[in-house]
Amino acid sequence: MKAGTLELNDVHKSFGNVDIIRGVSLTVEARERHAVIGPNGAGKSTLFNLISGRLSVTKGTIHYEGHAVQNRPPWEIREFGLSRSFQINSVFNSLSVAENLTCALLPSTSHGYGVFRWVQRDVSISREVERILRELGMEELANVPAGLLPYAGQRFLEIGMTIAGNPGTIILDEPTAGMSRTETAKAIDLIKRISQDRTLIVIEHDMDVVFGLADRITVLVYGEIICTGTPAEVRASKAVQEAYLGRAHS
Ligand SMILES: Nc1ncnc2c1ncn2[C@@H]1O[C@H](COP(=O)(O)OP(=O)(O)O)[C@@H](O)[C@H]1O
Ligand SMILES: [Mg+2]
Repeated sequence: MKAGTLELNDVHKSFGNVDIIRGVSLTVEARERHAVIGPNGAGKSTLFNLISGRLSVTKGTIHYEGHAVQNRPPWEIREFGLSRSFQINSVFNSLSVAENLTCALLPSTSHGYGVFRWVQRDVSISREVERILRELGMEELANVPAGLLPYAGQRFLEIGMTIAGNPGTIILDEPTAGMSRTETAKAIDLIKRISQDRTLIVIEHDMDVVFGLADRITVLVYGEIICTGTPAEVRASKAVQEAYLGRAHS
């Protein structure tokens, strides 16, 4: 699937009477690597949940490849080519690595009926699973139950699950959280590779990762964007220095 363009226009989200996302407008271009940073509780995960259809917007529009996707169910948005990972581990522990990838592929191959299609589909699914395993460098682990993988291995598998079905855009919520330096470096390599011909939107805490990976960065503070720009522009921003980078990081 071709890399997609995502456009948010004045997006709001309230829980009860608390405004969590307060008028976010943002365009992420096709093939861009875009990082979203900001303090804990800023609303980053909430924003991803709005984009991926897990939460409905209170107000505003979200367009992906020209489709209005706000308030659509997650599987529909996934079919348009937008795929996401979660901040928490979401692999099936008792299933093998290959089986987890097969599950991730099922929604995108669920078109049509009939025995012949089932057979064809089985073949194309196992080919696709092999392709992803190669891309992840996890061929040897294909039959290992995911629950027996080390923590970082499970996170790598999750990243792999987002590229099942060849989406045009992947969104990753803190993919390197809890990883060691070495594992983080490997994860960045992987993310760079899988976002080569795709649009990438990633929430990330590690500033080395952010500045090494992103073409552009959005800084979200209390549900509002205080800056969007290139890494150099974000570094130079007074508002960012004061609200975020100057304090907790760098
Ligand atoms: N389902 C929910 N119901 C009520 N409040 C929520 C819900 N999800 C998130 N929040 C609140 O929204 C704020 C932003 O959370 P979150 O998007 O997880 O921030 P971040 O990912 O930037 O750390 C937090 O104050 C959190 O408690
Ligand atoms: Mg979060």
